[in-house]
Amino acid sequence: MPIEKILITGASGYLARFIIDRLQDAYQLTLTDIVAPEGSFPNTTFIKADVTNPSEVEAACAGQDAVVHLVALVRGRSGKPASLFADVMVKGTWNVAEACVQQGVQKLVNISSISACHPAPDAKLPYHVDDDFVFGPGDLYYSLSKYLGEQIGAAYHQAHGLDVIHVRPGVIAGDGQNPGPTVPDVVTAPWFVYVDPRDVAQCVACAIETETVKYGAYNAVAGRADSRFAWHPGKEALGYSPEHNWPEIPDGEE
Ligand SMILES: NC(=O)c1ccc[n+]([C@@H]2O[C@H](COP(=O)([O-])OP(=O)(O)OC[C@H]3O[C@@H](n4cnc5c(N)ncnc54)[C@H](O)[C@@H]3O)[C@@H](O)[C@H]2O)c1
Repeated sequence: MPIEKILITGASGYLARFIIDRLQDAYQLTLTDIVAPEGSFPNTTFIKADVTNPSEVEAACAGQDAVVHLVALVRGRSGKPASLFADVMVKGTWNVAEACVQQGVQKLVNISSISACHPAPDAKLPYHVDDDFVFGPGDLYYSLSKYLGEQIGAAYHQAHGLDVIHVRPGVIAGDGQNPGPTVPDVVTAPWFVYVDPRDVAQCVACAIETETVKYGAYNAVAGRADSRFAWHPGKEALGYSPEHNWPEIPDGEE
């Protein structure tokens, strides 16, 4: 069945606006968040829902062909308790996956993060999905929640045949909390971890469009030789072709 109707969770956030912009001409979009989006989004419907509330999530998923799930604790997350990450990011993603199955949604595009799996100290770089990784103490609640969110997606794909694609953005430039890329004093290639939000949106569009990939996780990072996280697998599987790659910053060697 072709995908026509898409629900976007976390639709009032920074990244969502780029995804809405990318998808709105080709799909019928329903937006959901705990707060209404600022500005106007023509030809979209907004449903206020808390992702921790299963019945609200299920109601929002009714009649949808696909869900792009963006809700996470992003801004101001430092110092928040583990239980909040468990509620919003783990239970929230679980609620979304369960609602997809209950409501007959075909595909879940889960916005994860390169933080889901930090390369192990001896991992070969650039880091490929499924290479060795290790959790560190910094931002553990967020990393662990992203990792568990991917495991939930894997379980629902295996158990129920839900198509699930995890998109792992790099550090999103211009998001209001991360500074943009600047060349470090000591360059240890490959170092580049950034991505332009328009390219993340392109990767999401590719994940929606693919009819051959039923499950996978792909880094959405800049298409540079010095990217620390491999972007080619997304190109080969989905056709992801990043266009905003900071050519003014010298590109190192892989
Ligand atoms: N910003 C980055 O650099 C970056 C990097 C990698 C991955 N990501 C991921 O991209 C996604 C979007 O990030 P962003 O920068 O747009 O964040 P954001 O904070 O701007 O957006 C998150 C949205 O989630 C909503 N939300 C929070 N709790 C909710 C709840 N209980 N129920 C419903 N909605 C709720 C918020 O209202 C907000 O609109 C997240 O999954 C994030 O982890 C972001």
